[in-house]
Amino acid sequence: METGTIAITGASGFLGQRLVAHFHARGWEVRALVREPAAFASRIEGVRAYRCDLPDALDDAGIDGADALVHAAYATRATSLEEARRVNEEGTRRVLKAARAASVPRFVFLSSLSAHEGARSYYGRSKLALERTLDPERDLVLRLGLVLAREGDGLFRRLVDAVARARFVPVFEGGRQILQTLHEADCCAAVERALAKDLTGRLAVAEPEGLTYRELLLAIAARLGRPCTLVPLPMAPALALLRATELLRIPLPITRENLLGLRALRFVPTAADLGRLGITARPAGTSLDELLGAALSS
Ligand SMILES: NC(=O)c1ccc[n+]([C@@H]2O[C@H](COP(=O)([O-])OP(=O)(O)OC[C@H]3O[C@@H](n4cnc5c(N)ncnc54)[C@H](OP(=O)(O)O)[C@@H]3O)[C@@H](O)[C@H]2O)c1
Repeated sequence: METGTIAITGASGFLGQRLVAHFHARGWEVRALVREPAAFASRIEGVRAYRCDLPDALDDAGIDGADALVHAAYATRATSLEEARRVNEEGTRRVLKAARAASVPRFVFLSSLSAHEGARSYYGRSKLALERTLDPERDLVLRLGLVLAREGDGLFRRLVDAVARARFVPVFEGGRQILQTLHEADCCAAVERALAKDLTGRLAVAEPEGLTYRELLLAIAARLGRPCTLVPLPMAPALALLRATELLRIPLPITRENLLGLRALRFVPTAADLGRLGITARPAGTSLDELLGAALSS
């Protein structure tokens, strides 16, 4: 489908906001499913907001008659595993059930390259488990790389802030973990093309080559014109330390979950899936030049 009505959960989030703006600009009727519709309603003229506070509240009017539902709501910052499970697992089941009841032709689940058998983080494991509850014949799973954006509070911007503020940045196991990034515009294009081509099943969407975590940090520092010294730390003691600080409820900028996610990163071939979508995904260097260009000139 080239255009129609699209419902987007998590529309107030980092990716949700971008998808709302993208599909609205392409002439779709966009329904924003958010926790606080009154607060959201004023953001984009013509986009109606509906209540979606998972797993307890979901306004079916936001889903009825939609041609596609993009499920971008996820408790990415939950403070407890119990809360995360309720929102992500019960919540996704609830949204899927509502989409099925309303006969929405396409359910799109935003997953991650972190979803794989070797994942040890709750994030990667929960994404994989949820992917398996979907029907590959009628649903679409997009395993996204790390989305790079000019603004917002996603993981990428947190990395940029860390490099901008701190002279010394820790890396674990030499920062050799492979990351694959995805420019925000390529991310939106991927969702749009997948719908236009009626694709179902699972697609990995990210730059085809990838780079190491260490290379990404140094590339950010270079664009910002900031000195950046990487401080190598061993992974296993850091995990043990974080387990202790989390038991004692001592807040730190990095969590055990973050490190488990980092440790399980691995290269995922994406060229074939990008070919199916008919898009290219910019390499990290190109994205960084574009997105951090303003920082260089300011
Ligand atoms: N960003 C990336 O690089 C990236 C990469 C791969 C996959 N993904 C996936 O893409 C999806 C969106 O990620 P994001 O980066 O946009 O995350 P985000 O900025 O944290 O957005 C999460 C969204 O979920 C909503 N949400 C949280 N708890 C909710 C609840 N109980 N009920 C209803 N909505 C709730 C949030 O609403 P509030 O605004 O009210 O908190 C927000 O709109 C996630 O599934 C994430 O795993 C993201």
